[in-house]
Amino acid sequence: MKGKLLRTFEKSHYVVELDDSSTGKSVTLTGWVHRKREHGGVIFITFRDSTGIVQVAGHRSEVSSSTFETMHQVTLESSIRVTGKVVVDKRAPTGIELHVSSFEVVSLADPEWPLEKDAGDAFLYDKRHLYLRSPSQTAIMQIKAEISRAAHKHLDSEGFTEIFPPILVSASVEGGATLFPLKYFGGTAYLSQSAQLYEEAAICGLEKVYLIAPSFRAEKHRTRRHLTEFWHLEAELTFATHDDIMGVEERLVRAICKHIKDKCKRQLTLLDVKIKVPRLPFKRITYDEAIEMAVQLGFKVSWGEDFGREVERAISQQFKEPFFIKGYPTIARSFYHLPDPDRPEVTLSSDLIAPSGFGELTSGGQRIHDSDQLMERIKEQALDPSSYSWYLELREFGLPPHAGFGMGLERILVWLLDLKHIREACLFPRTPSRIRP
Ligand code: 4AD
Ligand code: MG
Repeated sequence: MKGKLLRTFEKSHYVVELDDSSTGKSVTLTGWVHRKREHGGVIFITFRDSTGIVQVAGHRSEVSSSTFETMHQVTLESSIRVTGKVVVDKRAPTGIELHVSSFEVVSLADPEWPLEKDAGDAFLYDKRHLYLRSPSQTAIMQIKAEISRAAHKHLDSEGFTEIFPPILVSASVEGGATLFPLKYFGGTAYLSQSAQLYEEAAICGLEKVYLIAPSFRAEKHRTRRHLTEFWHLEAELTFATHDDIMGVEERLVRAICKHIKDKCKRQLTLLDVKIKVPRLPFKRITYDEAIEMAVQLGFKVSWGEDFGREVERAISQQFKEPFFIKGYPTIARSFYHLPDPDRPEVTLSSDLIAPSGFGELTSGGQRIHDSDQLMERIKEQALDPSSYSWYLELREFGLPPHAGFGMGLERILVWLLDLKHIREACLFPRTPSRIRP
């Protein structure tokens, strides 16, 4: 056993590297048995690694009887190491086939692979630990990683510094109703809903900051857009206005679309998705205009309400590219939003809305930077000022006008790939009814 564990698992190629130029070469691959069939003295295995699939063929007349027997015995999802010659074969699914010379089972799978072709969604997510390896799920996770990479690259190019905020916190950012409490040495702590307040402290040294961190919301509603745990990309900019932050948001969203379109061609083909890179600047409409639009579309909405899902969807359906709705009512927004000095009943805030019925991608805006004004809003919203003492104190020591936003990584992934449910955008989704596996 010891000797076996010390052996090499080297491979010469990933599947994606096999092309016409590898024809005739002997290559070694490591991966999994995706599919298998036997036909006329040939065993065909659809071999899978992280980069794709390729057909592997073992001919009874060309391989040793023990190699043929090993291929005959191997079960679906076993991990294997295979060496063979690359040949062009139009009949193979990718036009290339590997003619086996050696075939090794690294770990033999139980013959009862539980994920049948017609398995329902609930079952697939009960078996998420197995379902994750399917080519579509692998492609989604690779694109999620590229969204993160694109965001890092783009924000770095705009001079932002990445920060690493706490996840255990003592107060709400987005309302107490959606806080997850936990015991904390005889007291209570909460899981962070947003790192915004900490970003606002960090900008007095770093000026432009961003982060990608988990956020938590104890939201009972079950929609195709909400999770109880999501990865939150947040950015905050000092010496800045609401207009400045909308500029950051639209450039970032465009950069992400462009990066995914350029760098994820293989995954997009597999998922049958086309990415449209939106043009700059994105349209800006006011909350008042959006309300008017909703009324025209036959909805009963009154000024001051936050839009429900149906109304937001109907408004979004009127657009073909992402757009901002700005100037949300002060009564409908969190305590930190800066009221418009010319019209205090609305805030200098906006949501970036994805078009064609999708809805909210980001929320952002300018923050109150004056401590008296902030105290007033904290009291109006019946929050406890002592929970925000440090956040108020920041305003006593030279905090300039500043603005920021937050965007769920899973939200933008669902939008880009047109996924039918946000759980598909998660490695292991967390919703009110799912905490396992
Ligand atoms: O709109 P939200 O609640 O705004 C904030 O948290 C601000 N403090 C952010 C900031 O200004 N720094 O959340 C921001 C974004 C939403 O637009 C959405 O993309 C995502 O986070 N989001 C969720 N994604 C999945 N599931 C949920 N329950 C989400 N709640 C928010
Ligand atoms: Mg929001």
